[in-house]
Amino acid sequence: MALKARTGRPKPRPREGAGRDPSEGPGKPVPLSVLGITGSIGDSAVSLARCYPDRVRVVAMAAGRNVEKLKALVEEFRPEIVSVRGESERSRLLELLRESGRGSCPEISIGPGGLETVAAAGPEGTVVLSAVSGAAGLKPTWAALKAGRRVALANKESMVLAGDFIMPRMGRLVVPVDSEHSAVFQALGGTLDAKGAERLILTCSGGPFFGRGADELERVTSAEALAHPSWSMGPKITVDSATLLNKGLEVIEAHHLFQMPWDRIRVVVHPQSVIHSMVEHADGQVTAVMGPADMRAPISYALGFPERWPLLGGGGAKLPGYAPLAFDGALTFAEPDRRSFPCLRLAEEAGRSGGGAPAVLNAAGEVAVQAFLRGEIGFMGIPRLMGECLHRLGAAKLLRLEDALEEDLRARSLALQLLNGMRGRA
Ligand SMILES: NC(=O)c1ccc[n+]([C@@H]2O[C@H](COP(=O)([O-])OP(=O)(O)OC[C@H]3O[C@@H](n4cnc5c(N)ncnc54)[C@H](OP(=O)(O)O)[C@@H]3O)[C@@H](O)[C@H]2O)c1
Repeated sequence: MALKARTGRPKPRPREGAGRDPSEGPGKPVPLSVLGITGSIGDSAVSLARCYPDRVRVVAMAAGRNVEKLKALVEEFRPEIVSVRGESERSRLLELLRESGRGSCPEISIGPGGLETVAAAGPEGTVVLSAVSGAAGLKPTWAALKAGRRVALANKESMVLAGDFIMPRMGRLVVPVDSEHSAVFQALGGTLDAKGAERLILTCSGGPFFGRGADELERVTSAEALAHPSWSMGPKITVDSATLLNKGLEVIEAHHLFQMPWDRIRVVVHPQSVIHSMVEHADGQVTAVMGPADMRAPISYALGFPERWPLLGGGGAKLPGYAPLAFDGALTFAEPDRRSFPCLRLAEEAGRSGGGAPAVLNAAGEVAVQAFLRGEIGFMGIPRLMGECLHRLGAAKLLRLEDALEEDLRARSLALQLLNGMRGRA
């Protein structure tokens, strides 16, 4: 296996939207809008913004309900505009900001419309980090793209629901943030163009239950599912990593981002999470991208592309808690077990079916994971609920972005109805 050389390769051409060419030397910090700033990806972005004020300046931010955390971030970064989930969150934020009396108050918008306003806000050249969790991230991602923003895309659901719609129209503005897709993007030389590649190989940690059988998985708890062995993430994606749904969603994301046929995307379990993904080239040689299991690496890469930020300290600030790879153990690979982890198979099937099936898969998954976290269904209830929704709703034809969102609503409503029947059988 050939590791990706960091030097001696043709310089990738800057993509549209924003970002600076390293040969131009240090410039002004890039304006950044963070959608989902109070979440796990938001934390990573904030850590980068604190350490690299010369590279990035937070000018807009969107949160949901965590108003206390947002208030502190507003006071720290003084954005021009923010958004929160609803009227009560706006009132609370205003109250908190008035109480502390530290500086002026930003414009505060609310609800899905508010998210879209923040996504399109900011000066020319603003980069948008799309990191709201779930299908709620789709419309703001689209709003940012329509405004001509470069989108650093963490919200994989945007691609799962509407990759067919987004990529032909706005794909040139998207830079992946998901570590697997960032690794593929890097292994391709800083491009989404995978025409020369034979296969994309997405690595998967296997999650906390790697090696367990379906019977055993019936009895695992939400606390065990939330204890991911290598990544620290939000609750939804952490449970999805345990069921392997996350990997299934990533297969669909990779299909759209890199326009790669389904049978040329392979998943391998790699428990050490050192290799973040690979590209197998036409001659059988493989480029792997390795790095710390720290989302600040792919986020900084997406924000700075085509430049790499000096996260390790060479020629710049050292990012707190960011450690280089230790190279101190074996790297192993295994086939995923699709029988014990049916979410992966369901996602691959939904992706191949196309149309509304991925939206159904995702919506049913969101409902099922919340129910699992509330203790209403067991771990294997998650794929059962998703499978039933897919079976009943099939793959409706989608013509518009709104059709995907309608499918999402239809599936949510069916999933909630089915859930009522499953409650008590947890
Ligand atoms: N975490 C990772 O390492 C990672 C890696 C790769 C990709 N991703 C993807 O990145 C996205 C975010 O993941 P995460 O782990 O950061 O999730 P998270 O920790 O749960 O954070 C979600 C963020 O979205 C906000 N939010 C959720 N629903 C909202 C709504 N309806 N309106 C406005 N804001 C809303 C939350 O606001 P409040 O908390 O204020 O309510 C929070 O800021 C997901 O699509 C995930 O798949 C995450």
